[in-house]
Amino acid sequence: MEQSNKSGFNSKLGVILAAAGSAIGLGNIWKFPYEAGQNGGGAFLIVYLLCVILFGMPLLMTEMLIGRKAGKATFSAFRAISGSNRWQWLGWWSALTVFIITCFYFVVTGWCVNYLYEAVANSYAGMGTDELLTHFTANMSNAPKMIICAIIPVLCTAAILWFGVSSGIERLSKILMPLLLLMMILMSIRVLMLDGSGTGLRFFFSPDFSQLTPSVVMKAAGQCFFSLSVGLGLMITYGAYMPKEQDVTKTSFQVILLDTIVAVLAGVIIFPAVFAFGFDPAEGPQLVFVVLPAVLQHMSFAWLSGVAFFTLLFIAALTSTISLMEVIVVSIMELSQGKLNRHHSVLISAAVICVMVSIHVLSMTGLWSGLQLFGHNLFELSDTLVTTYMMPFSALAMSLFIGWFMPFQDNDLVPHSQKRYKQWLRPAFVFALRWIVPIAIILIFLNGLGIFKL
Ligand code: PHE
Repeated sequence: MEQSNKSGFNSKLGVILAAAGSAIGLGNIWKFPYEAGQNGGGAFLIVYLLCVILFGMPLLMTEMLIGRKAGKATFSAFRAISGSNRWQWLGWWSALTVFIITCFYFVVTGWCVNYLYEAVANSYAGMGTDELLTHFTANMSNAPKMIICAIIPVLCTAAILWFGVSSGIERLSKILMPLLLLMMILMSIRVLMLDGSGTGLRFFFSPDFSQLTPSVVMKAAGQCFFSLSVGLGLMITYGAYMPKEQDVTKTSFQVILLDTIVAVLAGVIIFPAVFAFGFDPAEGPQLVFVVLPAVLQHMSFAWLSGVAFFTLLFIAALTSTISLMEVIVVSIMELSQGKLNRHHSVLISAAVICVMVSIHVLSMTGLWSGLQLFGHNLFELSDTLVTTYMMPFSALAMSLFIGWFMPFQDNDLVPHSQKRYKQWLRPAFVFALRWIVPIAIILIFLNGLGIFKL
């Protein structure tokens, strides 16, 4: 990949929106509330925000700087920048992690498709708390339907990559992203007017530190990498399109701020509604899909609100699946050493992903739900494996790679600013990458695995 204009990212705003498009998605609106609900609410939020500042900011900046310097996509950037094959395994590790994320991410995107269809058909209208819960379970046990719902977004993403219109979609999200934000603000206002919403706000905003176990910290750190799409080198691709004069610090900050606002807003909608309607905050992955229909029914223009919200959520998910599948497509092209072109690679990726996604759906429903490992089905296993272990591990490797093995004398790999008040930026960045990020990740890991007590 070369630095070119055809990507459409040649404007500053273009890069911010494309990177935010990858970051903002189901991680914020589906995963964040259910993880927070299962892991202590306010305590989770505090650790999450700390991780965003400590890990998210330096890592996102690094990825963008690597991309801009190398002018390459994720897969080849490590080799290009280190000038040797020694770090190529990190490219492979990222590709594998992205592949596993893709498999379960499309399953949940399929749930959005299903609920979008239901919003259009008005089929969840009038359902109470218990009915919404049994309705979700009934949906999930209909394996053929859920497989079709999951395959639709795979085909949409493949078509977008096939026709090379991702920049168009990202430009479209320039309008849709603010709309999603507006919709969420309206929903949060509605929810805050419900009786009993205060309990939910307290659950989410007032931390109960007795809930702060090592596993909560580990989950919050993992969620930070997942939600920001950092630690895999995926943002390297966006950095490659970044104009030389664009301020990396500012761009990273804006992306992180947007992503965090959406996650926190999701919590502000979900938790008050959970308590007002009598759901359980620790409901797990289905939490958002049972609570949101309840909220949407209470909005004015309920039908329109439901259709608008699930359409926007679907598009937010698509801008993330585009960034995920692109990594797989490029990896397959590299693997084939030029024998396969982009179109072949899109076809192969789509076919493999369809099979894997179907297996994931079946692992939750009918046929294979009895097949469990460590008490989890395949869907839960992929989700936990990636978020809690694989992403933090690659984030650790990346910080060591850039912090210790790359020449920091290389001005292009360190943010700098002519402005005097920003003189601290460079030493702070180097210190964070060399010491804070790796040590904190190692401590969180050891602590979480019970090998070391903090
Ligand atoms: N950050 C995306 C989200 O929040 C998910 C994602 C993770 C995308 C890792 C790409 C890489 O939905």
